[in-house]
Amino acid sequence: MTAPIAHFNGELLPIDQVHISPLDRGFIFGDGVYEVIPVYDGAMLRGREHFERLQRSMDEIRLDNPHTVDEWLKISEDLLAHHPGNQSLYIQVTRGVPPKRDHVLPKGLKPTVFLMTYPLASPSREQVENGVKCITSPDFRWEKCNIKSTSLLGNVLARQLSADVGATETILFRDGMLTEASASNVFVVKNATVAAPPRDNLILLGITYDLLVKLANEGALKLEIRPISEAEVRSADEVWLTSSTKEVLAVTTLDGKPVGRGKPGELFKRMHALFQEHKARLLERKKATA
Ligand code: PDD
Repeated sequence: MTAPIAHFNGELLPIDQVHISPLDRGFIFGDGVYEVIPVYDGAMLRGREHFERLQRSMDEIRLDNPHTVDEWLKISEDLLAHHPGNQSLYIQVTRGVPPKRDHVLPKGLKPTVFLMTYPLASPSREQVENGVKCITSPDFRWEKCNIKSTSLLGNVLARQLSADVGATETILFRDGMLTEASASNVFVVKNATVAAPPRDNLILLGITYDLLVKLANEGALKLEIRPISEAEVRSADEVWLTSSTKEVLAVTTLDGKPVGRGKPGELFKRMHALFQEHKARLLERKKATA
């Protein structure tokens, strides 16, 4: 089988022909940023918003963006032309290849740009209908979780805690307050009101989080953005996970105990339907412009 086509520094080539220097600061320091964009039949869900967040991540790490948002969208379309169907589009930019290892930011480097896609693993019907299990952990990551950095060791170790016990995610608390999960944002529902933690440096501001806020407003769901305590999460009627690959999923077991009635709740069902309608509209628009 021939290797799938990837994008590397302006070229499209089979992924097994991409060669990256060991001196690349992405390899040496995890000095890079990334995005993951869900693609449904060639249509990127919120592509522009993802590349705007990539810009914010680059601003935070003082990396000059080699492309405008429109250029990024074009680069993505060109790669996606080789990959029909539902895909996860992965974009990574590192600070590039300096002559030697030195923590200090080197001047005048050309960033390394890499994009690949792989089939999108959307939630299974079983996961949507029954919900998923999660565990919790103290949030032991750094204080710049708003940057979508490739330095993911904290997230990787947090995720492994749930993988070790066959759970879908690890929900994190810092100083007694909910932050997010290892690779997802977290929403809670109590008394028919949805709540999400504030958009600050302690969480990645998810593109799906923003989409849910928009859908909640359009669907007239009550939603509050405010600090949420660990106790509130543990006594919530519903807990949801959101991410580009998970869409929105109900958490029905937390640390081995049922959440609410132990089944996906009514507001989850509402939000899930709004999400699917949003996706259907995206596909219709794509067909209309094809
Ligand atoms: N992760 N929080 C963290 C720590 C994440 O890694 C992610 C996404 C999210 C949700 O963000 P979004 O809705 O923009 O996907 C929140 C991606 C999917 C990943 O690393 O694979």
